[in-house]
Amino acid sequence: MNIDFKELANKYKTPYYVYDFDHITGQYEELKGAFKARKSILAYAVKANSNLSVIKHLASLGAGADCVSIGEVKRALKVGIAPYKIIFSGVGKIDSEIKEALGLGILMINVESAAELDRVESIAKELDVIARISIRVNPNIDPQTHPYISTGLHENKFGVDIDTAKRMYIQCKNSDNLEPTGIHCHIGSQLTQLEPIKESVKIVSDLVRNLAAIKIELSFFDVGGGLGIVYDDEKLIDTNEYAQAILECLFGLDITIVCEPGRFLVGNSGVFVSKVLYEKVNGNKRFVIVDGAMNDLIRPALYDAYHKVEVLNDNEELSDCNLVGPVCESGDFFAKNINLPQTKHNDLVAIYSAGAYCFTMASNYNTRNKVAEIAVENGQDRLIRRRETFEDLIAHEEEFLK
Ligand code: LLP
Repeated sequence: MNIDFKELANKYKTPYYVYDFDHITGQYEELKGAFKARKSILAYAVKANSNLSVIKHLASLGAGADCVSIGEVKRALKVGIAPYKIIFSGVGKIDSEIKEALGLGILMINVESAAELDRVESIAKELDVIARISIRVNPNIDPQTHPYISTGLHENKFGVDIDTAKRMYIQCKNSDNLEPTGIHCHIGSQLTQLEPIKESVKIVSDLVRNLAAIKIELSFFDVGGGLGIVYDDEKLIDTNEYAQAILECLFGLDITIVCEPGRFLVGNSGVFVSKVLYEKVNGNKRFVIVDGAMNDLIRPALYDAYHKVEVLNDNEELSDCNLVGPVCESGDFFAKNINLPQTKHNDLVAIYSAGAYCFTMASNYNTRNKVAEIAVENGQDRLIRRRETFEDLIAHEEEFLK
């Protein structure tokens, strides 16, 4: 990544997110290439980073979209992703969202419970349309990742067990308003072990074969997302081995592969850059206080996640400190007990691997404006989301003042 953080700070102020679009292209092509032996759709998990320009960039490469709200579906459509490449997932879809999604003619609705299938069926009937259905199977596999981002065990709220799925497919087959189209599993995020993925794809592919035996032929096999990235020193799943393992499980089945990566495509494209405000020492603990905070990037506070940080100055004198933001919570930290150089006012601090689940999880806590987002592509930078203003923040309240 060859980005001049100082120049961007002068031009756009701090804090900001910057995304390297060329990195995103490389990630997309690597994964798409790994599946070249088959028809495949890489449906970008929009929740990872839903900036319109990011989605548009992926759309230009040929990506589809995996969406978990009608808002995300509309973002995908807005930047030109074809409806036939859009999947609508989520454990709790609202009636109005189902209705709208059916009207938009997207590829499939990914259903996560028997009760939801009944809702989709009755709404499709009301609208007199046929809903293309995929069912999310929970294979009861431990993905060996952080418990908050693990989804493939029966103790998690996601998907349905094999037997329920089978009954639901039979219901689809017998319905005038449902069409069994796909099957889906996603066992968790930031996965670094191939074995659990293999096991779950194997379980789900056995179900696909069982269904074929009773004349329920599915066209799409959605292996979910979850491929991990390097934050620290993780050893990653090789994308070719990943694709190979999936292809082996699907041997002999005429089915298009869908994969829903989020973090893998955008995670390491992004850097969050903020500026040192002050240093202080409380007792014998040193604190470096920057202008970015937990409301901008909550992963350390929420998951105790590690993000590599770097102070952009020439000082080589390191000492232990906590890197914190200005928000009034002890949870407002980016890193604890790390060695950083002595800093002075306005030194820049880069927080890496900030392209996924960082801006999208930002809030306005403490009436802090969401920061600017910048894209760099072919050496050129451009603003892709302007910094919010105080007026933006009060816009939905002001008219109600008495
Ligand atoms: N498909 C489904 C059904 C999902 O639930 C997710 C992520 C993805 C695909 C994309 O997963 P990815 O390829 O990005 O791992 N906020 C957390 C991550 C939550 C992931 C939720 N589901 C974090 O900051 O680590």
